[in-house]
Amino acid sequence: MRTGRGTRGTACRARPPGARGRWAAAVAALTAGLLLAGCGGHSERRPRAASDVTAVHTVDARAVPGLTAVTRNEQDDVRHLYAAYPKIPGADALTAELAKAVDDQIRPFVADTSDDESPPLPGGGAPELNVQWSLAAADGDVAGVRLVTWQFLGASGGETRRTLWYDGRARAARSSADLLNGAKGLAELAAQVRDRLGSQANPAQVTPDARTFSSLAFNERGDLVVEFGDYTVAPGSAGRVAVALDRSVYDPMLSEFGRRARDAALAPNPRLALGSPLSAPAAPGSSPAAPPPAPGARADCSRLKCVALTFDDGPGPYTRRLLGMLAERRARATFFVVGHNAEAHPDLIREEAAAGHEIGNHTQSHRDLSRLPTLQVNSDVQRTQDILRSALGRPPTLLRPPYGATNGTVANVAKSLGLRQIMWSVDTEDWRDRDARIVADRAVRHARPGAIILMHDIHGTTVDAVPRILERLAGKGYTFATVDDLLATHNVPPGGRYGGR
Ligand code: NI
Repeated sequence: MRTGRGTRGTACRARPPGARGRWAAAVAALTAGLLLAGCGGHSERRPRAASDVTAVHTVDARAVPGLTAVTRNEQDDVRHLYAAYPKIPGADALTAELAKAVDDQIRPFVADTSDDESPPLPGGGAPELNVQWSLAAADGDVAGVRLVTWQFLGASGGETRRTLWYDGRARAARSSADLLNGAKGLAELAAQVRDRLGSQANPAQVTPDARTFSSLAFNERGDLVVEFGDYTVAPGSAGRVAVALDRSVYDPMLSEFGRRARDAALAPNPRLALGSPLSAPAAPGSSPAAPPPAPGARADCSRLKCVALTFDDGPGPYTRRLLGMLAERRARATFFVVGHNAEAHPDLIREEAAAGHEIGNHTQSHRDLSRLPTLQVNSDVQRTQDILRSALGRPPTLLRPPYGATNGTVANVAKSLGLRQIMWSVDTEDWRDRDARIVADRAVRHARPGAIILMHDIHGTTVDAVPRILERLAGKGYTFATVDDLLATHNVPPGGRYGGR
């Protein structure tokens, strides 16, 4: 391998997706697992080892005023799907590209998993698609969004990675390749990357075209990080393949936008300023709410006819509107929030808690935990605990495993973190039927004293259904309690499971 003076060319390989169990088992692999988890970079945002030069620098979502997360979900026996991407006010062209990029992942996955003839997965469970986002840059008039897609269809899983950019000056979305100086830049980059990949990948697959370089971003030092999807330039068993190029090497390859992108990525106090209309950042329905119920006012479910409304996967663009509706009826609910979304909306988390609602942990990345090794389950749940503790001043005591998928490993992690696992007894299937009337009918028809009703505040139609649900259930004499209120009359230890009546 050639090494020019001052260049860094460390390639980083993550664990083979098909060998997770073995990794978790071996004590010797623990250290390596931690190191390599830093390479994955989609859910781990802890400080990385200094040697991990291919870790993409991420910017806190609070650098983008008015940012909301758009989330798509499906959860049934056929498939587990969770995909989120940010909606940046004033960057509609980027939002459209992100929506398209996510759709390009979802469509083939749904097609592949719609075949009735498909054999059941070994070990049970459902095929899974998970799309996570992070900000690679957000300053001035430049934003970068990195999408990492995890897909599991059977024997093994794999990740694809893509970074999309926004040029506020041109009001246009940009691909990663647009960071480069045209065909010349692509050719030079391909040559440099081929040199550095060495025997880890097939250099012949590093072709000088835009699709090869679909994820270009920067690390904390300002090196250019070039990363590839699994199976694209190396066998899937190689995991994540990425290289970092020193500034002196990549600088001549950059376009004018590429330099602005780098400056934005490295800005010390990043703040996106796209000059969007003032009305854009405000969440819809953000009118001041009616006086909230007194926080901590418990419902005594041993005497009252209680039902627990639960809202998963938020907070999102409709959450504030929902809070207004609940406040009007002085109804309390339980929010199982995704850590990644909570991180972007600590204000909403605090509003939920201040209004007397309960906040539960719905993990950081919304992966099917039953397929992950202990180490990863622990970091995924713990990360959200940390975020919620810092937003609320206390950690949550409830965990809802995504898709309700749990096992002994998940139970042990929950127990160690003092979390009770909360399932549900009424599924409104609101992700499938985006129809407020159907969602309301299902919730009301199946409600019974002690029920836990599953909904998702990431869907506008679900939030539209809430006034009807509140009115009709209140008419039947129900009190809207939190899950914790219901649990007061049940002995469920940490790690234990409860799904309502
Ligand atoms: Ni969920």
